[in-house]
Formats: sequence, structure tokens, C-alpha cells
Amino acid sequence: MYFIGIDSSTTATKALLMDESGVVIGVESAEYSYETPYPQWSEQHPDLWWDATCKTIRQVLAATGVAASDVRGIGLTGQMHGMVLLDAAGKVLRPAILWNDQRTGAECDQMRAMVGKQRLIDITGNDALTGFTAPKILWVKNNEPELFAQIAQILLPKDYVRFKLTGGYATDKAGAAGTQLFDVRKRNWSVELLEILGIELDWLPPTFEGTDVTGIISADAAAQCGLVAGIPVFAGGGDQAANAVGTGAVVDGVVTLSLGTSGVVFASAEAPLIEPDGRLHAFCHAVPNKWHLMGVMLSAAGSLRWYHDTFCPTMSYDEMTAEAAQIPAGSEGLIFLPYLTGERTPHPDPLARGAFIGFTVRHTRAHATRAVMEGVAFGFRDMFELMREAGLADVSQIRVSGGGTRSELWLQILADVLQTEMVTFNTTEGAAYGAAVLAAVGTGVFADVPAACERLIGISATVQPSAAMASYDKPYAIYQKLYPTLKECFAEL
Ligand code: XUL
Repeated sequence: MYFIGIDSSTTATKALLMDESGVVIGVESAEYSYETPYPQWSEQHPDLWWDATCKTIRQVLAATGVAASDVRGIGLTGQMHGMVLLDAAGKVLRPAILWNDQRTGAECDQMRAMVGKQRLIDITGNDALTGFTAPKILWVKNNEPELFAQIAQILLPKDYVRFKLTGGYATDKAGAAGTQLFDVRKRNWSVELLEILGIELDWLPPTFEGTDVTGIISADAAAQCGLVAGIPVFAGGGDQAANAVGTGAVVDGVVTLSLGTSGVVFASAEAPLIEPDGRLHAFCHAVPNKWHLMGVMLSAAGSLRWYHDTFCPTMSYDEMTAEAAQIPAGSEGLIFLPYLTGERTPHPDPLARGAFIGFTVRHTRAHATRAVMEGVAFGFRDMFELMREAGLADVSQIRVSGGGTRSELWLQILADVLQTEMVTFNTTEGAAYGAAVLAAVGTGVFADVPAACERLIGISATVQPSAAMASYDKPYAIYQKLYPTLKECFAEL
């Protein structure tokens, strides 16, 4: 018995084949790009996801020799927040507007004005954010009224793939929460919000828990993907929630930190925890009847990559960080702000900028490298501080993943700045793996998602906070003061 997890991300689609004991048998991926027709815009044609889905499913079956008739379930995941518009015939009306598109600043203000910021946070768990789906729909209403008039269905990217696989419209509750049209507490569309914003309820698909069946593979889709008609397609979840399943952040007390281009902190919760100012994302989890809190830093390992490529392009990362390891914790008063591509948590500000503060003639390249790594860790600490304010109980261990965690120095800096044990674990396929696990749970292979994670995910290494821990308190206190102090200058720049 086998399960397939499909991840339709912004840069590639991945098809992962897992056996019933949770072992990954094969993974295939097909890359694509997205268009930026204007600065700050980001769009992608839904055909890219479907073509890549057909290709990678065929490839993973061919490469592993697994018979299509042995596949018992498909789980879906993918980039969140993207807006796919269909007309009454199911035809795509325009390229999808993606999560990283920043054109909707005015529509976010419009939403706050129409709904009231506090009511918006109350219902959806979040303040208006350019990345979310709702302001994208208002943008089409304001700027492309002739298209708006033809809307019959609004889908998220992975749910367009679902539509092509099953012929039906459906979404998962984690993804639905990321549209900002969802009542996170009630785990259903908010009729109040839809009415205020002028969006029809029947434009939105029915919502399902992550382990529910949403439809079966149609004969037409089976022929295109090399599958057998009738295989159930499970709801799955948005990429962050599915990644949490793939890394075990499915019960209270397990918190994950991803140090990729962007940085994400994710905590599962038994009840909706909403940060009063909406600075953290509060969404439904892909785990039935659970919620999660999430913070997203836009430039985490991306900051170090920029620094390396710009200032140390001839050095290896190992050489560069070995030098930084010789510098005392706190970089002798040099502080880096990681807002190179604006910021999301804790400062939702597309105009925020990166900065080095505190150079003296004593500082060297090695200090600057270390300051970049520390600045990113301070950004993560900001997110944990907010999580505490939102009511998250004390965190005793953080599970880490992402390219940046290959650096022992960075792991130690994180353990010290966050004053918490950091652990690495044995699963590396994140969201696609989580989607396959959700399908396996839905089929009854595991009792529930926490039981599956308990069985499948194990700790591989641990890093404890060191004596250097206390040296970060003062630089972190200064770091916290810098964004508010510089905010106006950033906007003027
Ligand atoms: C989550 C988010 C990203 C996208 C892209 O809120 O914006 O994770 O889903 O992968």
C-alpha cells in the first residue's frame, strides 16, 4: 500500500511516494518560475502546477516501479494564500496572484476600514496582510471589474490541482484560514466578512479537515497522471501546516523553526491562540480540530546568502562561518537588522530595510558575518516573545530544519539567543511528506496524526544553550529598539 504527497510550491512541484510504514520510496520534482510583470507583483499560471503534477506522478511511479494500482491515497499541499479565479465553466480567468505579491497595500487598508482592524483580528486571527487572499480579491474588484464580474469559483493553488484531479471544488481548513475570509474559531467561512467585503459564499469551496476525503481521481485525470481512477484525494493542508505534520509539530509543546530563505516558527495549539495585535498568524492546523500560531521572517538564511554573495563571494560558507566562530557572542556591539526584503513578523512592513548598526574600526569581516547570524536569531527571538504574549506555554525544545541549520555555529547561536534546546530530526521532505502522512492517516493506516508523527519522526541531534547565553540579552534589548527608531528613515529611503 502506497501514498503520494503532492506539494505545489512557488518554484516546483514535488511528488513524494511513501509506503505504509512511512518510508519515503521516491521523490520527483519539476521546477517552474513565476512572473513579475511589475515590481512587487508575483503571478503564476495554474497550468504550470497541473502539468508538473502529471509529470512528477508519472516519474515517481516509473522510477520506483510501484504499480499505480498499489497507490491508496493522495494528499495535497502547496503554497498558501494564492488566488486562482475560475469562471462558471471552470476556466482560469487570469494568472494566479501569489502569496509573495505585494500589490495590495491599499486593499489591506480598505479591509481594515470596512471591517475594523480589531473585528478582523477577532474573526480571522490576523490583521490584513498583502500576502493573504482576501485583499487580492478586492484588488481584482477594484482594478479588473470585468473579470470580477465573471468569478464563479475562487481556489487556492493546491485546490486547483485537486480540481484537475477530481473534477470537484474543495479546500482544507488550514489553507482556508490563510485566505483571511475564514472564521478561525468556527473553522468555517465567515459569512459576516464575506457580506462586508462583497464576496459570494458560493464562490468558495467547501472546507475539510486535513485527513478527510475530498473526492476521487477522475478517469480523465487518471489517464493524464498515470494513476488509477477512484483513488481518494485527501484534503491535506497549506504548506506550513503540512510541513508541521511532516516534522511533528502536531501536539502542544513541540515547536518547529525553519531556517530557510525565509524563517518560520510554528507552534501547534489545542485552541485558537490569537495575538491581540494580529502580528502573528493564527490559523487552523491541518490536524483535525487543532490550530497553530506562526511567525514568518522574510529574510532568514536569505540574509546570510545575500551577505555571502555580496561581500564574501570567493569564500566557502564553512570558511566564512569558521571565521565568525572566533568572534565573541554579541559581535562586540555590531548589530544586524535582517529586513532585507521588508518584513512580515513582527513588523508587517514592506518598506523595512536591512541595516548594520555599531561599526567601529575594531570590527572585521568576521564580526559582520557573526552579526548577520545573530541578527537573524534575534528576529526569531522576537517571534517567540510574541508567541509567549499570545499565550503559548513555555517551550522546552525547538525542532529545527532548513538549509541554515547545516551550520553548527548558527545552531549554537540560536540555542543561546532563544535559550532553548535545539534538535534536528530524521525527516527532510517537509510538506510533501506531511501531505502523504495525512492521506495515510485518512486511510486508517495510523490512528491519528499525532500517533503517526510519534511513530515516524525521531530526533537525530541536540544542541544545548551554552554559557554564552547571557551575552545576548543586552544586544537583543538594543536590537528590539532599532526598528521603531529607524522605521521612519526606512520609509523615507
Ligand atoms: C505561509 C506563506 C508561505 C507560502 C509559500 O503563510 O506565505 O509559506 O505558503 O510557500
